[in-house]
Amino acid sequence: MESPVTPHVLVIDDEVDACELVELILSREGIRVTSFQDPWPALECVVQQRFDAVLTDLTMPGMDGLEVCQRVLGARPDLPVIVLTGAGNLDVAVGAIRAGAFDFLTKPTDAKMLLVAVRRAIERRQLVSELERLQGSEAAPVEANGILGASPAMRRAFALVDRVASSDASVLIHGETGTGKELIARAIHAQSARAKGPFVAVNCSAIQPNLFESELFGHVRGAFTDARDNHKGLFLEANGGTIFLDEVGELPLDLQPKLLRALQERTIRPVGSDKEFPYEARIVSATNRVLEDEIFEKNFREDLYYRLNVVRIDIPALRERMSDIPLLAQFFLDGFARKQGQEPFVLTPAAVARLVAYPWPGNVRELENCMERATALCRPGEVSDKDLPDKVREHRATAFGITANTDGDIVTVDALERAYVARALSLLGGNKTRAAQALGIDRRTLYRKLADWEASEPPPPRR
Ligand SMILES: Nc1ncnc2c1ncn2[C@@H]1O[C@H](COP(=O)(O)OP(=O)(O)OP(=O)(O)O)[C@@H](O)[C@H]1O
Ligand SMILES: [Mg+2]
Repeated sequence: MESPVTPHVLVIDDEVDACELVELILSREGIRVTSFQDPWPALECVVQQRFDAVLTDLTMPGMDGLEVCQRVLGARPDLPVIVLTGAGNLDVAVGAIRAGAFDFLTKPTDAKMLLVAVRRAIERRQLVSELERLQGSEAAPVEANGILGASPAMRRAFALVDRVASSDASVLIHGETGTGKELIARAIHAQSARAKGPFVAVNCSAIQPNLFESELFGHVRGAFTDARDNHKGLFLEANGGTIFLDEVGELPLDLQPKLLRALQERTIRPVGSDKEFPYEARIVSATNRVLEDEIFEKNFREDLYYRLNVVRIDIPALRERMSDIPLLAQFFLDGFARKQGQEPFVLTPAAVARLVAYPWPGNVRELENCMERATALCRPGEVSDKDLPDKVREHRATAFGITANTDGDIVTVDALERAYVARALSLLGGNKTRAAQALGIDRRTLYRKLADWEASEPPPPRR
């Protein structure tokens, strides 16, 4: 029986012959194929068009199949990806499944196996779309308290916010800079029974260490030279509301016991006073540091961590939730148009493609700034790729593969290992625990390597 819509499969393989072979096998069965030799334009296409499955080669210059898989799923979580690997490479197959691949096939491609796998993938994809259609919810963006997101990761974060808001549990929000941690903290407060109470934000990295206790817990008149009056302190000011300990990972080690004590006892003692006062504030904290790593490096107390981290909300980096990029970009453009009293801006498809391909180290804040700049440069009503900063427009993935220098020499294993570890760390936002997991090595081993490399000079380029 013919399916009502012609299935459409995206094929990515750096060898033209391989693409043509797959095209031949699939098109004979009435499956439409679009193929690319370069993963980047293929990924742009994933964002713009509808596909039912993706078939990607594993080893390609520029980007390997596992990364393709992760990026496709970042943009289109329901799109099944099949990875083609060399024969007998079980480790890679396991890696592919871990990266979220739907299936893997070994090369050289067997036509029958290929068809079975592709048909299964298409069937799954069409089933999911049908379910979504029935539920009327295909990737509908969600907005809660001015926070926008459509990616599964953001939906999960919103659901967690909903669940924890009604409790008084301490929440630790983790995410890279600019991912929206403060917005989430405010949303928790706004959705809680404490919404009418104060929301008091404390930037732990900005308080002078010698004023820390006085700022947080208050002081009595005469406690120190400048203490001319009683001072209430932020903990008591937050009574009936929420105290937000921002950048908590930056808190110096010698101040951590003081905070720990306040959290454990649920009382504070103002500087110069001999009385303890109970406070009645909910604790929400945020950090862009990986506290598990900080504990391991003895920069953060484990007991304090457990107090803060009763519930944890992880906000993924923007590059890990590509489907939010066009949505947020348009959201910011709409906001700027309203503010500037201008007609709405639309993004050209080329602009969307560039935005999605860029890794956004400054996350949502960087995207917001980029959109503001674009509205100042663009023609009325339209933001095109030419209105984006050079770094966004010209971004290309730094190719990683076995690179030869101009003399045709192959780089040393040492240099390759350093580059590979550095790449893993940067892809995972500097999170050493996750990098060690992804690299399949023990965390201690990773620390040792990093320490060794830091102590030694970078290897000289081989000539
Ligand atoms: N999901 C989102 N929807 C709408 N706006 C967002 C979203 N995420 C972040 N923003 C906007 O991006 C900017 C940065 O957000 P926020 O200050 O909450 O980030 P942060 O994680 O606290 O950053 P930092 O670690 O640098 O303090 C703000 O202007 C915020 O309004
Ligand atoms: Mg912040």
